[in-house]
Amino acid sequence: MVVCKSAAELEKMHRSGLIVWGALEKMRGMVEPGISTKELDKFAESYTAGRKARPAFKGYRGYPGSVCTSINQEVVHGIPSASRKLREGDILSMDFGVELDGYFADAALTVAVGKISPEREKLLRVTRESLDRAIEQVRPGNRLGDVSAAVQQWVEKHGYSVVREFVGHGIGTHMHEEPQVPNYGPAGQGPKLQEGLVIAIEPMVNAGAPVVRVLSDDWTAVTADGSDSAHFEHTVAVTKNGPWILTRPREATGPCW
Ligand code: MF3
Ligand code: CO
Repeated sequence: MVVCKSAAELEKMHRSGLIVWGALEKMRGMVEPGISTKELDKFAESYTAGRKARPAFKGYRGYPGSVCTSINQEVVHGIPSASRKLREGDILSMDFGVELDGYFADAALTVAVGKISPEREKLLRVTRESLDRAIEQVRPGNRLGDVSAAVQQWVEKHGYSVVREFVGHGIGTHMHEEPQVPNYGPAGQGPKLQEGLVIAIEPMVNAGAPVVRVLSDDWTAVTADGSDSAHFEHTVAVTKNGPWILTRPREATGPCW
């Protein structure tokens, strides 16, 4: 069942979303060679607790962290660790969600650690742009397939591939609601987007083949071919005026991250 949200509910989700955004922006500023992914996780926890919210991932199906930190060939769901220190040239995906007053928000971005290769720069840019293009499709009357196709077309046009095993999702009073939001598929198909629908759109893009495998920690998904991977995400509401990105300030403009 797809649940649409009232204006008051969207405001609540925006309050959650601003905590997610604020934490990720601060963490982005902390990223430098030598910092461990656990330090980022700890920061996100204290930031969230200070705002009376709850990290949504912690304990979800037994997930041990508050943030997912995925480095280089790791696609998603990397577990923060004190022994995992960032190195110059790495790319780091940070995925974070919170619950505040019963409402969830979820977002992610991939950042450079110091100076990175032009190849990695391009992967980050194209993945972020694929999310920008998907978000543009979030308007009443469009179909879910328009969102999915926007990601896939932009990614494949640049010679990259989209991951199939993980998808975006509806979000609201649960972190994962219907509908599923794949990053692939034909435009013009799927359910019509209605005012009040909220979806987390999250392209996961591999520089090589789309295939992933999960490490023996039962969480970390990596590319099967060892190629790099990037991940960007926002929680986006359908409004009559078009997309409303709930995981950033209302006044923000320009690229989504
Ligand atoms: N953004 C991811 C998702 O929407 C984060 C979930 S990680 C988990 O599924 F640990 F909570 F599973
Ligand atoms: Co998500």
